Amino acid sequence: MKVHVANHPLISHKLTVLRDETTDSPTFRRLVEELVTLLAYEATRDVRTKTVSIKTPVTQTQGLKMAEPRPVVVPILRAGLGMLEGMVRLIPTAEVGFLGMVRDEKTLMASTYANRLPEDLSGRQCFVLDPMLATGGTLVAAFNFLIERGATDITAICILAAPEGIAFVEDAFKDSNVPITLVTGALDEKLNEHGYIVPGLGDAGDRLYGVV
Ligand code: URA
Repeated sequence: MKVHVANHPLISHKLTVLRDETTDSPTFRRLVEELVTLLAYEATRDVRTKTVSIKTPVTQTQGLKMAEPRPVVVPILRAGLGMLEGMVRLIPTAEVGFLGMVRDEKTLMASTYANRLPEDLSGRQCFVLDPMLATGGTLVAAFNFLIERGATDITAICILAAPEGIAFVEDAFKDSNVPITLVTGALDEKLNEHGYIVPGLGDAGDRLYGVV
């Protein structure tokens, strides 16, 4: 797995406000969107393009446009939903599929409760949105869903990642021939005994949408 940790002062600034426990939900939601747009800029570096011919007001020239089939963006519900707007702002023509996953807080195992994805993802570039790469269980399950449907390359965009989660995902796909990339805003220190990222930002879903 290729891991890219974004290193940019604007990302660091926004992350610091995001982590602060006094940041309210409306500000948190806005910052997540802004961060995703910045991370998506890096994550889409290898998005497929085609050469097209256009006429400017001055002359005929060639340029690049995004190629078909369009990329598929897959937010992992619930917290990944907070990242969708920031992503589709950058790629408005992307198709959007949904995966609903929940983690058992005792076993830390992820299970799927909703799945709305195209049946056939052959030849599609997929962008998975999940704010917190903690144990890695959710991402491994999500990537397996996409690979079973034929995805040809997968990029996960995570606001924060823990070293344990990265190692788990790397190990799970070490023999896979599907290229996998992770783009994250920061690589944090560790997981605590409850599976939370340290220093982290707490429960991303709760901070986005409240405790339900
Ligand atoms: N999920 C979260 O929302 N926060 C963490 O720190 C870990 C998993």
